[in-house]
Amino acid sequence: MSKSKKAKLRSPSGMHDILPRDQKYYRIVYKAAKSIADFYRFGQINTPIVEDLELFSKGTGESTDIVQKQMFVLKSRGGKNLALRPEGTPSIVRSYLEHGMSSYPQPVKLWYFGSYFRYERPQAGRFRQFRQLGFEVLGDQGAAIDAQIIQIFHSVLESMKLEDLVIEINSIGDYQCRPYYKKLLVNYFRSRQSSLCSDCRRRLKQNPLRILDCKEEKCQRIIKSAPQIIDHLCKDCHDHFKEVLEFLDDLGLPYHLNPYLVRGLDYYTKTVFEIFQLEKQKEDSEKTVRNALAGGGRYDNLAKVLGGKEVPACGGAMGVERIIEIIKNSKFSVKKAKKPKVFLAQLGKRAKRLSLKLMEDFRKDNVFVAQVLTKDSLKSQLKAADRLGVKYALILGQKEVIEGEILVRNMKTGKQKTVKINRIVKTIKKKI
Ligand code: HAM
Repeated sequence: MSKSKKAKLRSPSGMHDILPRDQKYYRIVYKAAKSIADFYRFGQINTPIVEDLELFSKGTGESTDIVQKQMFVLKSRGGKNLALRPEGTPSIVRSYLEHGMSSYPQPVKLWYFGSYFRYERPQAGRFRQFRQLGFEVLGDQGAAIDAQIIQIFHSVLESMKLEDLVIEINSIGDYQCRPYYKKLLVNYFRSRQSSLCSDCRRRLKQNPLRILDCKEEKCQRIIKSAPQIIDHLCKDCHDHFKEVLEFLDDLGLPYHLNPYLVRGLDYYTKTVFEIFQLEKQKEDSEKTVRNALAGGGRYDNLAKVLGGKEVPACGGAMGVERIIEIIKNSKFSVKKAKKPKVFLAQLGKRAKRLSLKLMEDFRKDNVFVAQVLTKDSLKSQLKAADRLGVKYALILGQKEVIEGEILVRNMKTGKQKTVKINRIVKTIKKKI
């Protein structure tokens, strides 16, 4: 096959390499989350990237888009049905049950940062492999937890100087009040079925609540007059929601009640929330677009659905790539990578060999030294040192190796002096 006809190997659609130049952004987000997790005493947890398919079909929910359309499913050689994890919450609950965490002091507070996979149509801010960071609190039913989870996500975003954040919140009831509301909703939409989009006609049978967040204009017109769950909550859910809002008021967190917020996962009970950033489309445009950065809610029944006892819980997750995209275009100052102050140049084979050992001595003493092993001429090595802007170049030649010495060159003045090799790390440490 001629060279031009060779198929080009590329990363899978919607999945990207994170090149060295972008690693700093991931570190920023990780650090922001970790410092808040440490403060609130969340323990970090890693769960496998692959889980039993059943965990998500049961947990995330059979009728959800994620399970129906977006999972990467695979079979192990042993014939087990597995899936690349599309989200983190079912894995966290599985792990809580599997490790008997109900015997720990409650609540158990966990946080995570990792890759998730959804077979979605790749577009801006929507990938097939993306990273999420999440916070989950298991074993507590109090409304303070719901408010604290929302506040934690808000704080993580604020600590990275993200602006124009909007918190939307709703309660979608529980297994006492939701079935009745669902009936009301189905009755309402059924009589208007012919005016709904085809997706919503399907949702009417499988998951009527999801019709409420359909973005199609013709559905929107009908949704506007649909019964709202907030008017049909049972006393328990109503009181819980009221308390969550009071806590948010106390925290001074601005929020919008969105009666149409239902979220696309099956396990939620009571509180659901999303945090958006409003973006002006253009400088002169009044139109704004909403960018969902984080979402979550309470899921008091998930543990039971997964075969455990009832464990009240609440949590959320945030899209790391979406945040990075904003940081990249914002005034948030990203710390420059640490630069070396010293360059080690070597001439000849023996010097090169000794330089490897010397580099290790510097590293162990925390002195950041650069070296270019592929260049042999002194001129090109000093050029590289100059480009890096180092203060000192250390020159190790044949003669120096034999005499156990090394030349220290001040790059600004060009002055050089000889130092014993066994004293060089100390000498340089003093100088920089
Ligand atoms: P989710 O709303 O599906 O919730 O995802 C949370 C966040 O992940 C979204 O707000 C978005 O920023 C990001 N995200 C989702 N899909 C993609 C994608 N294809 N590409 C890039 N970013 C994406 C959950 O996953 C729940 N597990 C949250 C939760 C935790 N609820 C309770 N605990």
